[in-house]
Amino acid sequence: MSSFIIQGGLPLNGNIRVHGAKNSVLPILSATLLNRGKNVITNCPYISDVDSSVRILNHLGCQVERQNDAIIVDSSTMSHFDIPDCLMREMRSSVVFLGAILARSGKAVMSFPGGCDIGTRHIDLHLQALRELGANISESNGNIFCEADVIVGKEINLTFPSVGATENILLTACTGKGVTRITNAAREPEIEDLANFLNAMGCKVIGAGTSTISIEGVNIDTLRGVEHKIIPDRIVASTYLCATAVAGGDVWVEDVIPSHLSTVISLMTEAGCEIDTRDDRVHIVRKAPLKAMRPMKTQPYPGFPTDAQATVMSVATCAEGTTVFVENIFESRFRHVGELARMGADIKVEGRVAVVCGVPKLFGAQVHSTDLRGGAALVVAALGARGQTKVGDLHHIDRGYEKLHLALSSLGADMKRV
Ligand code: UD1
Repeated sequence: MSSFIIQGGLPLNGNIRVHGAKNSVLPILSATLLNRGKNVITNCPYISDVDSSVRILNHLGCQVERQNDAIIVDSSTMSHFDIPDCLMREMRSSVVFLGAILARSGKAVMSFPGGCDIGTRHIDLHLQALRELGANISESNGNIFCEADVIVGKEINLTFPSVGATENILLTACTGKGVTRITNAAREPEIEDLANFLNAMGCKVIGAGTSTISIEGVNIDTLRGVEHKIIPDRIVASTYLCATAVAGGDVWVEDVIPSHLSTVISLMTEAGCEIDTRDDRVHIVRKAPLKAMRPMKTQPYPGFPTDAQATVMSVATCAEGTTVFVENIFESRFRHVGELARMGADIKVEGRVAVVCGVPKLFGAQVHSTDLRGGAALVVAALGARGQTKVGDLHHIDRGYEKLHLALSSLGADMKRV
């Protein structure tokens, strides 16, 4: 079992490049199934969720090759329409293969997806939307059987702007008959990236990034393989901003889209950091003691992202004053709180609300990652703590961060993987 050993107390200084977005690359790898062509996806991070997607593509019969940050997928050889339970359980995003397999094969069989244990992660909106588009779906013994002779465009109003459901609708409707209109669609930048990829292969998607998306179905045989660069990971960038806020120092976070980080940037400014944004870079300097931030509620994009809640909470643990967090997206996304408490954090949780009273200094301890972002929050907290912290259960962190110890060490952190 690997662990990070972090000696806290050193400031971070220098430049750090942000890798491609996990939440973009996963649906885009599934979208390669649609075009029976050769796709070159660049800026793909080395993270275990990408490895899981590649295993699914291989199982489906695609040829997949990795060349540095590029993944080359030839989907012309696809021969299966099922995903075995062991692959489905590796990550929540396995469910975005549903729409793509259905569109390509007219049928799909899979079990329910796995992923971080941060609450019940339903897929009812995905299934309901696919049914509205004409799919027959039955569920038995934990498996989902999905079949559609023809997908017919419809007006679909999502009762919640689910990211995964919006992606599955896009993937299914792109090659259906007629026009599909999604209202209350998710507006996350990763949806826009997926739509750009689909449009580059010949699909007709308009409005991605807004709450109304129109998809005009095209003939699947006209789609072609494409080359596409994945957008930067805004959550990894937020983690580096939080790490600098906690450790102190002077860091340029590079290869980012600053507008995707606006909520986290404004919180770090409120916490006492000086922040300056340039085209594709954010400069953060933290010299003064940290201050508490205004109450924050996680919301769908462009609101404060649930994926940044844990790392921003680590900033609040050592800021002067009280900061309140309300988690509106997932019902049990405070599992890192107990681990932060082992490091001396003063946090009270009641349902979906966490009240953090800053302490002058956390101390090093032996802690365990509870989930992907909760694990990153422990690393961030450890950078500012007195003494040594050992963070275990790194498989969670490996799902979404490429060599986090090397990235932070390059900025001067005393951090190693053992
Ligand atoms: C995606 C992101 C994840 C992020 C989340 C919210 C990927 C790979 N993952 O996850 O990092 O934390 O968006 O920004 O992009 N829900 C239902 N029924 C459904 C679908 C969702 O009740 O059919 C609920 C979920 O249980 C959850 C909430 O809606 O409480 C948000 O889910 P959703 O937006 O679908 O998130 P994911 O696509 O799973």
